[in-house]
Amino acid sequence: MSWNDELDSARDRDQTPLEDQQLFLPDTFPDLPPPLDLPPAGGGAAPVDPWDPGLHPVHEPGPGPDKAAVVQTKAQAQTQTQTQAHQAAATATALAHESPPELVPGSELAGDAAGRPRPALAWGRVLAIVNQKGGVGKTTSTINLGAALAEEGARVLLVDFDPQGALSVGLGFNPNAMELTVYNLLLDSSVTFADVVQKTRVEGMDLIPANIDLAGAEIMLVSEVAREQSLQRALGPVKNDYHYILIDCPPSLGLLTVNALTAADAVVIPLECEYFALRGMALLMNSIQRIQERINPRLQVEGILATMLDGRTIHGREVLSRVTDAFGDKLFKTIIHKTIKFAEAPVAGEPILTYAPNSGGAKEYRDLAREVMSR
Ligand SMILES: Nc1ncnc2c1ncn2[C@@H]1O[C@H](COP(=O)(O)OP(=O)(O)OP(=O)(O)O)[C@@H](O)[C@H]1O
Ligand SMILES: [Mg+2]
Repeated sequence: MSWNDELDSARDRDQTPLEDQQLFLPDTFPDLPPPLDLPPAGGGAAPVDPWDPGLHPVHEPGPGPDKAAVVQTKAQAQTQTQTQAHQAAATATALAHESPPELVPGSELAGDAAGRPRPALAWGRVLAIVNQKGGVGKTTSTINLGAALAEEGARVLLVDFDPQGALSVGLGFNPNAMELTVYNLLLDSSVTFADVVQKTRVEGMDLIPANIDLAGAEIMLVSEVAREQSLQRALGPVKNDYHYILIDCPPSLGLLTVNALTAADAVVIPLECEYFALRGMALLMNSIQRIQERINPRLQVEGILATMLDGRTIHGREVLSRVTDAFGDKLFKTIIHKTIKFAEAPVAGEPILTYAPNSGGAKEYRDLAREVMSR
């Protein structure tokens, strides 16, 4: 069975799902999207050697914001009218048709000590880590893929785009004690990126934190002009200061996820290796395709990441074989196995790469980073 057939049957199972009603797209969209024909994930090239760390400038956060202005602008945002929501839908499709990221001189390195060629790496590649299903490893993958890319010398920004704030907590922050988060960056034009960005304990990796305030953003954004592009606008000025920007999405297909997909060049889809793994995948693929067609033509599927595989069980291996049949070369070669270290590391407030650097899980995310860098 091809992956398209598999998705068709999954689509039948997913008729009228709740998430479908939540998909927050301009009103002009037709009801039925055309059949899936998404670009293949990567060229299947073997992972290449990383390039030297420490070659790029460290980002220095700026001074704090004017708190009075923050409060005032919040109030202004609340008074936006419903009319603007319609304007937003009309203008959404006319905006954000950016050209693909350019290779910036200096990001391409000549070779390693052994003279082997290193990958040319573009600045400003934005990856959304998406799956509307909860608990599949989105946040774990964002933290650890980010840390592994940073370990390879890339400048990395993680964007916590889930009101649960798990990404921020997993990196040792207490987002509920923070006054300025991604919410302010989205909705308050007086708040700058430098006001919100936090350095993490991982060298070369920064974080835009989130807390429960972000839950209110979905409602507030409805009245914003070009509401789908709010995150893209917020990241625009700093996009090319980072090689990779990873956005940890919430478990829904609401406006926050649509914003992430609009800002992204590609999506990484963590897929838990369990019996119902394929449930909801047709809906997710359709959603990605709709964004690609109507808002963000450069959006691609970077790859599907099999997570939490228990390779000791027949069941785990069966599910993996099913996922492989369904997605073929869209599946990353790297598989993330189930290990208790993944539950322990966030409690310690750090990635598994630093918490248990020699563990199997750390090695797997390093392999994934090399795969991503070679694509
Ligand atoms: N490979 C793994 N092995 C074992 N446990 C894992 C693994 N990956 C993630 N976990 C654990 O599974 C739980 C869910 O993971 P995670 O929070 O990354 O999922 P999520 O998709 O971000 O969830 P949500 O949809 O709620 O945001 C966490 O407790 C995490 O520690
Ligand atoms: Mg999460």
